[in-house]
Amino acid sequence: MPVIERDIQVRWRHQVHFTEDVFSPGNPVLRDILSAGRPGRPTSTLVVADEALALARPDLLPSVSAYFATHAAAIRMVCPPVSIVGGEAVKNAYFRVSEIHALIDRFHIDRHNYVIAIGGGALLDMVGLAASTAHRGVRHVRIPTTTLAQDDSGVGVKNGINAFGKKNFIGTFSPPFAVINDFNLLTTLSERDKRAGYVEAVKVACIRDRAFFEWIESQASALARFEAAAMKPLIFRSAELHLNHIATGGDPFEMGSARPLDFGHWAAHKLEQLSEYRLRHGEAVAIGIALDVVYARLCGMLAPEPAERILALLETLGFELFASELLHEDEQGQLLVANGLEEFREHLGGELTITLLRDLGVGVEVHEMDLPLVVRAIDELRRRHLARPGAILRARTP
Ligand SMILES: NC(=O)c1ccc[n+]([C@@H]2O[C@H](COP(=O)([O-])OP(=O)(O)OC[C@H]3O[C@@H](n4cnc5c(N)ncnc54)[C@H](O)[C@@H]3O)[C@@H](O)[C@H]2O)c1
Ligand SMILES: [Zn+2]
Repeated sequence: MPVIERDIQVRWRHQVHFTEDVFSPGNPVLRDILSAGRPGRPTSTLVVADEALALARPDLLPSVSAYFATHAAAIRMVCPPVSIVGGEAVKNAYFRVSEIHALIDRFHIDRHNYVIAIGGGALLDMVGLAASTAHRGVRHVRIPTTTLAQDDSGVGVKNGINAFGKKNFIGTFSPPFAVINDFNLLTTLSERDKRAGYVEAVKVACIRDRAFFEWIESQASALARFEAAAMKPLIFRSAELHLNHIATGGDPFEMGSARPLDFGHWAAHKLEQLSEYRLRHGEAVAIGIALDVVYARLCGMLAPEPAERILALLETLGFELFASELLHEDEQGQLLVANGLEEFREHLGGELTITLLRDLGVGVEVHEMDLPLVVRAIDELRRRHLARPGAILRARTP
């Protein structure tokens, strides 16, 4: 039987802009992005903002409206900015996606108009899913407002929400039209959320860039004090490394089984779910990285010195490297976190592929994990945690 085959090539310019005070009337970045290629005809835009941000900065949404009013000849908002409660809860409820779809329908946002999401990684993931599925994809612009969203999640090409107790079960690969990172939007962030994003920078440094890892080590105390002079370059380099991977890694839409940027994530996703999202994504990833680092050392794959440097860096940045959810068991006495391995495999498809480390900056892929060794690694993290001053072991929940 005949077969028609054609190679289809799609070129995509992925743009992440760095600016400050994006909604100050004199800042042209957003206007120029939205109006590019549309002289004389204002583009329609729906703006969705993270409620916690809007509450923490009561001046923000009025300044968004004032920005659009100033540039009314080029860009127009279809309604006042809509604020929606952010955080992981927004990814655990499908009706939020329907709400955004309904607004896109009601205000006639078409494929040449825009949905802008301003917020943390969770809100961006949800709004991105809605934008990328309405009309098979209207343009969306992300304005990330957490460290994690600026240095990792917001600059990537994925959107999604959680379902069936699994992270990102419903989602799309759909690059945003543009991303705008405005460091000044982080000022109202809690210290907890400022810190959580550091871990994605440590992660990408561990697998890709030893010099960056050593730079983070040199800045660890300043980062622990949330000094802008250290945070800004950390966010920039982490975003750049994530983008480099997407653009040049050869698998932007993750067709293969490997996902090196998910170093430390197989356990992390499971821990987020087991903790009922008590743990932030970044906090769970810190524990997931620690687990895989100790595991790699126990296997003899990673030398003790780099392993200790990674654990010490995470601790200096203020992360806990243990959570009681690591000890949760099912009725058969099997560690629940171990189910994360199969769920991770199923999410990626194909063969189980976990990235571990051979050295700082050098990732290595393995296709199985030795469960007794995982248990030993967990026990080591538990003992390390208990030895730290002021440590408490949270009561075990069934
Ligand atoms: N799409 C991807 O490629 C990708 C990659 C990594 C992580 N993620 C996802 O990102 C999510 C985590 O994102 P996150 O770490 O940004 O947390 P988050 O979105 O849950 O935000 C944390 C909290 O901060 C609030 N907030 C956001 N910005 C604020 C600000 N400037 N001031 C005050 N409060 C603010 C939010 O409302 C929320 O309560 C997870 O769901 C994770 O799975 C996605
Ligand atoms: Zn992550």
